[in-house]
Amino acid sequence: MLTSFHSRAQAEFHPAPSIESPEETKLAVAATVPTDVGCVGTFVGADEEVKAPGLDRAVLKAAGFEGKAGQTLLIPRKEGPPLVAVGLGARAQLDAGKLRDAAAAFARTVGQQKRVALQVPDTGSVPVDLAAQALTEGVLLARYRYRPYKRHSEQEPPLENLTLVPGSGNTEEVEQGMVRGGIHSRATAFARDLANSPATLLTAARLAEVAESLAKRCGLEVEIFDGEALARLGCGGLLGVNAGSAEPPRMIKLTYTPRGSRGEAVQPLGRISLVGKGIMFDSGGLGLKPNDLVHATMKGDMSGAGAILAAMTTLKSLGCRTEVTAYLMCTDNMPSGTAMKLGDVLTVRGGKTVEVINTDAEGRLVMSDALVLATEQSPKPDAIVDIATLTGACQRALGVLSAGVMGNDQSLVEQVKASGERTGDTVWQLPLDRRLRQELESEVADMKNVGGDNAGAITAGLFLEEFVAGLPWAHIDMAGTARAERDNAWRSKGATGYGTRLLIDFVMGFQPTRETRH
Ligand code: BES
Ligand code: ZN
Ligand code: ZN
Repeated sequence: MLTSFHSRAQAEFHPAPSIESPEETKLAVAATVPTDVGCVGTFVGADEEVKAPGLDRAVLKAAGFEGKAGQTLLIPRKEGPPLVAVGLGARAQLDAGKLRDAAAAFARTVGQQKRVALQVPDTGSVPVDLAAQALTEGVLLARYRYRPYKRHSEQEPPLENLTLVPGSGNTEEVEQGMVRGGIHSRATAFARDLANSPATLLTAARLAEVAESLAKRCGLEVEIFDGEALARLGCGGLLGVNAGSAEPPRMIKLTYTPRGSRGEAVQPLGRISLVGKGIMFDSGGLGLKPNDLVHATMKGDMSGAGAILAAMTTLKSLGCRTEVTAYLMCTDNMPSGTAMKLGDVLTVRGGKTVEVINTDAEGRLVMSDALVLATEQSPKPDAIVDIATLTGACQRALGVLSAGVMGNDQSLVEQVKASGERTGDTVWQLPLDRRLRQELESEVADMKNVGGDNAGAITAGLFLEEFVAGLPWAHIDMAGTARAERDNAWRSKGATGYGTRLLIDFVMGFQPTRETRH
């Protein structure tokens, strides 16, 4: 009792500080390397003349550095800060992803430095603004650490300054790219902070408060639905999952409306609805998860909702022309005397009934209410995209670098894939094989909440499809990509913020795929 009282008091007086006041790195573009930096990065391709002054291919090679992608070599100098040679690999294969990874390798090599500069290389076929964006993201995301509950370490201080030093004549493009990279990285770091926050501190109610205060600053409309409001809406999925919890549920609805220079709403280029799984902690419910390391990562089961919230905060500053409505479905999934029982039947928004045969397949229950709400919007959305840490099966199938994507509209799925490639938040399509739909048949309700032993990611997708009323829809299963168990390029150990940059890129470039019946 004392412990739970203590942690509750803590939650009130010590709300995840990094969310309130994020660590900021100052970004700058300069014609020459500032004198106060701790080191300077310079890129070296694998198969070309070494241009950096004072460097020589034979000397680098003798030190074991060939310019392979991801290789770095620190070179102390008599005068000025040390130089860091950063491998780019073969110039012909250079793309934004390789630049992002190389910048991340640089950032990790100089992990103790507070101020660093990076020379912008000849980027070949990559437009220089996209290159500058990728370099900025690589450095900032690699240097991310979740620090609020750790005392400061000199080994890994926060990065205070990053300066990009362009070649001649393209300063403006470098600046534009760097600003964009800063926006994308800050949003990703925010999503990481949310997912790394302990579940007792970041409850559904607290996340709603965070969303409310952010919405004001970021030009979003926000509406918060508590338990009573959810009951009035008939959101039996979210309420069913919340039944065992001491913490109240929240549905957070956010709206971004594109506006003209005088603040007037303008005709949007399209309308998107986003749905995020916001399970603040997934214990499994009465079907309790085992006491293992996977269970210990379930504070991150709200990563889909976190990625959406983070992405939404950038839309105004990026001048987005698409209208976006988001539903974040937030509760934890806990066992108790009031928890939903195996065999219970829930009635989801819109009237479909679901037999709960596994209390650990809770994500699809909370998402289903929101998918129905999205289909009821007027005018109807041109696309619905949902994102969720939904199934361990998806992680088994695809590993931890790509999320699964499924959908009922191939050109929409293609847009999600393209955003994945551009941002490095990659996705791999799984087939929405409707022959498997029969696995969801229930004896007592319209369907049950899990299928058979196989193809768990696909049957979860088929479950969700039941609620989208045939509107263009794509589903992203990010169970595998939400966390990194070790530092890997720009992914820092812990929550990855996966999906944030993918969603920003997707929303910014969205093209409606078919005539929507408004
Ligand atoms: N939150 C989990 C999925 C998950 C697993 C996320 C691993 C991140 C890492 C989800 O709610 C869950 O428990 N899914 C079950 C589904 C099953 C009961 C059909 C699973 O994957 O085992
Ligand atoms: Zn679960
Ligand atoms: Zn879950």
